[in-house]
Amino acid sequence: MAIERTFSILKPDATERNLTGAINALIEKAGLRIVAQKRIRMTREQAETFYGVHKARPFFGELVDFMTSGPVVVQVLEGEGAVLKYRDVMGATDPSKAADGTIRKLHAKSIGENSVHGSDAAETAAIEIAQFFSGNEIVG
Ligand code: CMP
Repeated sequence: MAIERTFSILKPDATERNLTGAINALIEKAGLRIVAQKRIRMTREQAETFYGVHKARPFFGELVDFMTSGPVVVQVLEGEGAVLKYRDVMGATDPSKAADGTIRKLHAKSIGENSVHGSDAAETAAIEIAQFFSGNEIVG
């Protein structure tokens, strides 16, 4: 399988509970390499753009409020089949449905406060990465 990149966010419920290191350990244990990382406070504009695809959903306002409520850690992860691999490591969106040992099973509080985001496809990953990182910030 080809080496690819995916985009990850450690969400405010994770940074608030000081889980950056614990989650990064799960990411690295799965064989993914963190090739870019920064801790930021998302603006409303950034969150609305990032989650634009969910604009018509009833939870959109709640989602933007949550993602701007505290610091997040944005990351680029690299590895073989990184998009699918990270989705496996994260577990299902709803933590009550997530498999044992996944980030969301271990740490997520609810479907909204679910600790991490990961891209759903390689094309989406490229767009999401470009929203938060310039090329020279990614060091593989
Ligand atoms: P994420 O992978 O970041 O992409 C969209 C997010 O919307 C998702 O994770 C969830 O955190 C959030 N989400 C999905 N469904 C709901 C819901 N029913 N209520 C609140 N937030 C939701």
